[in-house]
Amino acid sequence: MVLEVEHLDVDYRGVVAIEDVSFRIFPGQMIGVIGPNGAGKSTLVKAILGLIPSTGGIIKFRNSPVKKQLNSIAYVPQRTQVDWEYPITVLSVVMMARTAYTGWFRQPNRRSKEIVKSALERVGMWELRSRQIGELSGGQQQRVFLARALAQQADLFFFDEPFIGVDKYTEDIIFDIFNELKRDGKILILITHDLGDTLTKCDHLLLLNKQIIADGSVKEVVTSENLQRAYGNNILFLNREQKSA
Ligand SMILES: Nc1ncnc2c1ncn2[C@@H]1O[C@H](COP(=O)(O)OP(=O)(O)OP(=O)(O)O)[C@@H](O)[C@H]1O
Ligand SMILES: [Mg+2]
Repeated sequence: MVLEVEHLDVDYRGVVAIEDVSFRIFPGQMIGVIGPNGAGKSTLVKAILGLIPSTGGIIKFRNSPVKKQLNSIAYVPQRTQVDWEYPITVLSVVMMARTAYTGWFRQPNRRSKEIVKSALERVGMWELRSRQIGELSGGQQQRVFLARALAQQADLFFFDEPFIGVDKYTEDIIFDIFNELKRDGKILILITHDLGDTLTKCDHLLLLNKQIIADGSVKEVVTSENLQRAYGNNILFLNREQKSA
C-alpha cells in the first residue's frame, strides 16, 4: 500500500515550482513536508492529487495511478485556499465525503449518516452541524475539514498546514487523530511550517525548496546546515518567531 512519487516536476506556465521530487511512504507512517513559503509544498500535494497537472514524473498508490483512487484519498486543504463564503452547512461539508459511496443525487444512507455524525462528534462539532462554514472560527473550520477527511474513510491523508490559527484544544484533537490513523495503517502527509515539536511526530521528513533539500529522519533533516540551505537567512527570523510563539 505504498505511495510512490518519482521524479515529479510541476511548473506554472513555464515557471518551475517543483523539480525532480521523489519519495515513498509506507502504511502507518506520517511524512512531514517542510520548507519556506513558496517552496512548492501545496503544489506537491495538489499535483499528487491531480488537481494541477504535472510536467513529468510518476505518481503511484498501491501500484496504480492515484487518479483512479481518489475515493480513498482525503485532502484537508490549507485554510487560505478555501472559499469560506461559500454557503454550505457544516453537516453538508462533511456529508460531501460520502458522495463517492452514495452518489450525488441520492439521499445518504443510514450508515453514511452515522459515519458523518461520529466524525463530527470526534472533532467536537456535532452541536454546530447546522451552522454555515463561513460563520465558524478558524479552529472550528479546521475541525470540520478534519471530520470530512475522517468520514471519507480514506487510506491516504493529506493535511496542508492544519495547525495554522488553531487553539491547543484543536491541536490536541488533530494529533490524536494522526495517532489513530497511523495505528490503523493509514498513510499521512503533513505539510507544516512548524519546525518544533510537530516534527517529532513525523516518521520521515522532506525538506523542500523546489527540489528536495534533505530527506530522512527528523534528526537527519533538521540540521542547521540543511535549514540554512532551504531557508537562507530567513531561518534567523524563523527561529525568533518560534521562540516568541
Ligand atoms: N496557481 C498558481 N499559478 C501560478 N503560480 C503559482 C500558483 N500557485 C502557486 N504558484 C507559485 O508556485 C510556487 C509554489 O507555491 P506553493 O503554494 O506550492 O508554495 P508553498 O510551499 O505551499 O508555500 P506556503 O508556505 O506559502 O503555503 C510559488 O512560487 C507560487 O507563487
Ligand atoms: Mg502552501
